[in-house]
Amino acid sequence: MAMPVQCTFFSSLLHSFSVFLLPLLLASAADESDVFTGTWVPDQSYPLYDPYTCPFLQSEFTCQKNGRPDQIYTHYRWQPLACDLLRLNGTDLLERLRGKSIMFVGDSLSLNQWQSLTCILHSAVPTSSYNLTRVGDVSIFTFTEYGVKVMLHRSVYLADVVREDIGRVLKLDSVEGNSKLWKNIDVLIFNTWHWWYRSGATQPWDYIEVDNKIIKDMDRMKAFERALTTWAAWVDTNVDPTTVKVFFQGISPSHYNGSLWNEPSAKSCIGQKTPVAGSTYPGGLPPAVAVLKGVLSKMTKPVTLLDITTLSLLRKDGHPSIYGLSGWKDCSHWCLPGVPDTWNQILYNFLL
Ligand SMILES: *[C@@H]1O[C@H](CO)[C@@H](O)[C@H](O)[C@H]1NC(C)=O
Ligand SMILES: *[C@@H]1O[C@H](CO)[C@@H](O)[C@H](O)[C@H]1NC(C)=O
Ligand SMILES: *[C@@H]1O[C@H](CO)[C@@H](O)[C@H](O)[C@H]1NC(C)=O
Repeated sequence: MAMPVQCTFFSSLLHSFSVFLLPLLLASAADESDVFTGTWVPDQSYPLYDPYTCPFLQSEFTCQKNGRPDQIYTHYRWQPLACDLLRLNGTDLLERLRGKSIMFVGDSLSLNQWQSLTCILHSAVPTSSYNLTRVGDVSIFTFTEYGVKVMLHRSVYLADVVREDIGRVLKLDSVEGNSKLWKNIDVLIFNTWHWWYRSGATQPWDYIEVDNKIIKDMDRMKAFERALTTWAAWVDTNVDPTTVKVFFQGISPSHYNGSLWNEPSAKSCIGQKTPVAGSTYPGGLPPAVAVLKGVLSKMTKPVTLLDITTLSLLRKDGHPSIYGLSGWKDCSHWCLPGVPDTWNQILYNFLL
């Protein structure tokens, strides 16, 4: 059996990149930096925290408290094929972040990952004081003794939505309003996707503005791409990569069609108790992934994509299903403890 190899993280090597490191990197051409291809393996040392010791966890994610009887789904670890990830050490992360702020920006999948990280950190230092407040669209979780702020800016499109005389306008060419909140943050993790196909009563805008024109609607995938491009231009113009680390959370997948995991009788994730075996998802990737990667590939500033789509696609068992908000069948969000803990473990490995 091959010796386990620690995963390498190219972006963390960049600043110490030198004549010394370059040959090392080239020599280890086996893809030890590919942390996103792998399998889920049973591991009784997971989950990273007990849901009952995380008092601020919102009820839509507290599947066990909401009556989910099976718990096997909480005892898995993500194992990349080429290398090993470090386990997330919450105390270590708090010490590394001392005096700093980290902000998730996006929709309820950002909320999911933010809640996961605050639970992981709190459970590492359960007696350390914290303060949870909300100011406008920003929730702020402060680990008082460490001076660490873990924040969430709820902004489902990243692009601005502005109330004007004609109604609510989704401005695909503007992040001017939202981005005021992204200044002076040390680590930014962006995400948008799930709201782009909303229509009817839950669509939170009346018009789209693009190229200085007001229109009633347009191809939603093109609108998504346009807003991402506007966001990317903001990062390229405003972010100083020597002081700020920027991540994109990636496209979090849903499970409403069992044909996509070779179980045509399944109409949703309800009753799923184990992950898809192996490393590939029969149904392939949602098209939004290619659009996102296309935008990121044209950027001039470094942005790390947490490319969590495939590893999450394999987790048809990870959603709240009927154990989330009552009356809902939720195969889009994730139970906590659960899959977003792994997104944060990968984030931690990139931050080291
Ligand atoms: C986690 O990090 C802390 C602080 O650096 C360290 O004291 C502790 O030994 C680490 N725990 C593990 C299990 O590595
Ligand atoms: C919590 O944080 C808010 C905002 O920073 C602050 O106004 C409030 O005084 C803090 N509360 C405590 C108990 O520290
Ligand atoms: C489920 O996926 C299969 C395979 O891609 C497709 O043929 C079918 O139309 C889908 N069903 C629904 C309800 O979307």
